[in-house]
Amino acid sequence: MLLTELDHIAIAVEDLDQAVEFYRTAFGAEVAHREVVESDGVEEALIKVADSYIQLTAATRPDSPIAKFLAKRGPGLHHVGYRVDNCAEALEALKAAGATPIDQTPRPGSRNTTVAFIHPKGVFGTLIELVEE
Ligand code: CO
Repeated sequence: MLLTELDHIAIAVEDLDQAVEFYRTAFGAEVAHREVVESDGVEEALIKVADSYIQLTAATRPDSPIAKFLAKRGPGLHHVGYRVDNCAEALEALKAAGATPIDQTPRPGSRNTTVAFIHPKGVFGTLIELVEE
């Protein structure tokens, strides 16, 4: 079993501050980590729940994948992050199982993680992110 935890669920939002404020008001949730990931064109606010996160994600520029997602589908569930001990090993296992990687090799993610994305086609319509802490 390569999965060790549900690392995060990522929700695409138009207005990050508004989403953070809603989670604060509704759930009493505080942001554990907030980060702009320039390479992905996103700003993330992470709310810790046990050993997992809700990742509220907004676009920082028009050509960001999140901006395209919002334009096409509106706010909503964007991807699921599965925590693994070894991202490279998990990526190879996914390829071997017939999944289509978006990242051919692991790359840096937020929180100093190492990540790789798997295309939704072939994995039941859900964008998967493999996350190694
Ligand atoms: Co993610």
